[in-house]
Amino acid sequence: MRLMVTGGAGYVGSVVAAQLVEAGHDVTVLDDLSTGHEDAVPDGARFVRADITQAHDALDGVDAVLHFAAKSLVGESVAKPGRYWANNLGGTLALLDAMRDKGVAKIVFSSTAATYGEPERSPIQESDPTRPTNPYGASKLAVDTALTAFAQVRGLGAVSLRYFNVAGAHGRYRERHTVETHLIPNVLKVATGERDNVSVFGTDYPTPDGTCVRDYIHVSDLARAHLLALGAIAPGEHKIYNLGSGTGFSVQEVISVCREVTGHQIPVVVGERRPGDPAVLVASSAKIQRELGWKPERAALGDIVSDAWRALSQNT
Ligand code: UFG
Repeated sequence: MRLMVTGGAGYVGSVVAAQLVEAGHDVTVLDDLSTGHEDAVPDGARFVRADITQAHDALDGVDAVLHFAAKSLVGESVAKPGRYWANNLGGTLALLDAMRDKGVAKIVFSSTAATYGEPERSPIQESDPTRPTNPYGASKLAVDTALTAFAQVRGLGAVSLRYFNVAGAHGRYRERHTVETHLIPNVLKVATGERDNVSVFGTDYPTPDGTCVRDYIHVSDLARAHLLALGAIAPGEHKIYNLGSGTGFSVQEVISVCREVTGHQIPVVVGERRPGDPAVLVASSAKIQRELGWKPERAALGDIVSDAWRALSQNT
């Protein structure tokens, strides 16, 4: 297929683009490099430097779009909500209009667990209430809502994948955020010597060890789900799937695994709770396993951390 990958110079987008090229697809990456890196665009993919409101011309002859380009920092979204509504919702609506103009009627969308907000039960299922607690999650949920409507009225075929905590590396493709807020890369940066210690944001949550519990999914497993989603697009339907490993690990457990993998003692500083962090976020991925036959292959936290560590230590 001829595919456009928006945000294909970013962490998840570049891994999906690499897997699509490997599978023999014709891939165009569209990325404005506001947070991505041009050297993350896989060999064999065409690169267009543009933002998603300028995708029109590059959509000629495209069969489907995989849409990753987005602002994705929860804290920043609270401080600068306009940026999130403009980019994530406004930008996506412009992309969807350009797709309609060019007769591109298939999309796979990068959604998030942040659409659910504070869950009522664990693991979270797709039918659970969506009550985002920050503009990032709200802007992604608004796109999901628009996709459902466009499927009904325009015959668009769409699949949204709601990611839980993506981590690990796929070969040379790894997390390289200028502003790093995520737990695993921040812990590993202590082991490389880039940071002196890692802050644990809150030890008084209602969890077994008092720290937040999250569902970590390997980026290679996550990316593979996009190829399955592409094959499952049906005209006039919007399908939504959670993507996680189904097992929760606390912040303390993640740090312990990072100590084992790196052999570094990784000093910890206990800090305040980070505003907006739910105590426990664990996905039920039963629906995508049942309907698309997806299965995580590197679900063990040790594998996820080892791959992230190998890619980081080989490239710093
Ligand atoms: N944490 C620390 N110290 C750090 C960084 C994180 O203790 O230096 C804690 C956080 O408080 C949280 C856990 O580690 O309890 C995981 O935090 P991350 O920032 O790695 O991930 P989040 O769970 O906050 O966010 C992820 C995605 C978001 C998405 C969200 C869904 O990165 O894009 O899941 O709720 F919105």
